[in-house]
Amino acid sequence: MKKVLVAGSTGYIGRYVVQEFKNRGYWVRALVRNPDKINKPGPHLEPAFDHLADEFFIGDATTPESIKGVCDGVELVFSSLGMTRPDFVHSSFDVDYKANLNIMREAQRAKVKKFVYISVFNAQKMMEIENIKAHEKFVDELRASGMEYSIVRPTGYFSDMAQFLNMARNGFMFSLGEGETRSNPIHGADLAKVCVDAAEGDAREIDAGGPEIFTYRQVAMMAADVVNKQPLNISLPLWLADGIAAVTGFINRDIHDIALFATTVSKNDTVAPPYGTHRLREFFEEMAKING
Ligand SMILES: NC(=O)c1ccc[n+]([C@@H]2O[C@H](COP(=O)([O-])OP(=O)(O)OC[C@H]3O[C@@H](n4cnc5c(N)ncnc54)[C@H](OP(=O)(O)O)[C@@H]3O)[C@@H](O)[C@H]2O)c1
Repeated sequence: MKKVLVAGSTGYIGRYVVQEFKNRGYWVRALVRNPDKINKPGPHLEPAFDHLADEFFIGDATTPESIKGVCDGVELVFSSLGMTRPDFVHSSFDVDYKANLNIMREAQRAKVKKFVYISVFNAQKMMEIENIKAHEKFVDELRASGMEYSIVRPTGYFSDMAQFLNMARNGFMFSLGEGETRSNPIHGADLAKVCVDAAEGDAREIDAGGPEIFTYRQVAMMAADVVNKQPLNISLPLWLADGIAAVTGFINRDIHDIALFATTVSKNDTVAPPYGTHRLREFFEEMAKING
């Protein structure tokens, strides 16, 4: 039986990846820093995984001593460990780059055969954003590691689209620019299949989005329709958004990254090759059932 370590297992995509490896008959070790999260589902319908992983390794990848031996006995490592919200202790460099590098060093020491890592679609076009730079700095280390590797580059996740539901529920819909740029967001379960296929295949770089393409305006209208509200639309011109993003640079580096990322994806289409079957409207309807 093949053995895999999943890092980032408590996150949106990590939970589905644990589930997908299990469905395909793997033995799964999950790296977890907060064990309280194991037996609870995530906030965007992603599964609890107490019954899915075979072993839990409690450690924090930002602290190398706490993950010593984490890769022992496995031949495959998957990591979606990354910083997706402001963290006032660590920088994205500490998490996206250094914590993943700590895991990679352990993988090399344990003679792991292959490492699968999640970066971001179109990263090369966004290298001015610190968080993207940190992801890609790790990708460079992985390419030079001597291990087999695959880099999966997804568009936005359905979990990210849930912010449209929250805004609609709260009675306002905030958008940058005209909201006419397009993207094909992907469900965690669909992306997990892409990741495990990557682990089992030969492709080194895989761009992946979901099966449906929407403008941001369409996503906003769908969210409003699902929660049955007519929110007030507040559209911020892109020149003003750029100015605000620049100012956030003087306040907090993580918020600055998020603002820069939001303005960048509001200017360019983010459409990757389509995978999977999950529909965004069904995800919104499920989310609306649990959150009202
Ligand atoms: N969300 C998107 O739309 C999107 C699109 C493209 C690429 N990505 C990339 O995909 C990856 C996974 O995204 P996701 O939405 O699954 O993220 P997520 O739900 O926030 O999960 C992130 C994972 O990383 C761990 N982590 C975060 N900060 C940490 C720290 N300081 N020390 C140790 N562990 C830490 C989390 O552990 P805890 O649960 O303990 O916090 C969790 O297991 C990220 O690298 C992200 O940049 C995301």
